[in-house]
Parts: sequence; C-alpha cells; structure tokens
Amino acid sequence: MYVCICNAVTESDIGSAVAEGCCSLRQLREQLGVGACCGRCTGCARDVLQNSLHAHTPHRPAAAGQLAAA
Ligand code: FES
Repeated sequence: MYVCICNAVTESDIGSAVAEGCCSLRQLREQLGVGACCGRCTGCARDVLQNSLHAHTPHRPAAAGQLAAA
C-alpha cells in the first residue's frame, strides 16, 4: 500500500527503513521523503512507523518475579 503518493513510498519501504534502524518520522522524511511535499501522508506514515517499530521490537523475557507469579 502506498503511504506517500508524492514520493511513491510504500508501507513496505517504511518497514525496510525501520529494519535498517529508522525510528522517527523525521528520519523517514530524511531517508524516504515521506511528508516532504504536501504532508497529507504524515498521520498514516506515523501509524505505519509505530506498527513497524512494534513489529521489530524484540520480546524481552519476563523478569524472574513475573515468571514465579504466573
Ligand atoms: S503524500 Fe506524502 S508528501 Fe504528499
């Protein structure tokens, strides 16, 4: 799905940028041009960024106390 029509940036492009270390809307703008023209994509780009960041966040093991309580 296209997120930014002006710069032909897709959801997949944003996911790849996040996988390479991009973690903010400003970095997306610098790397991909998202939001750099009309700006209408900013809200959608932010949502896609958050989802991608969440997907790339490694799961941390629960603390020992949490395991004992479970
Ligand atoms: S749609 Fe992204 S800057 Fe216009």
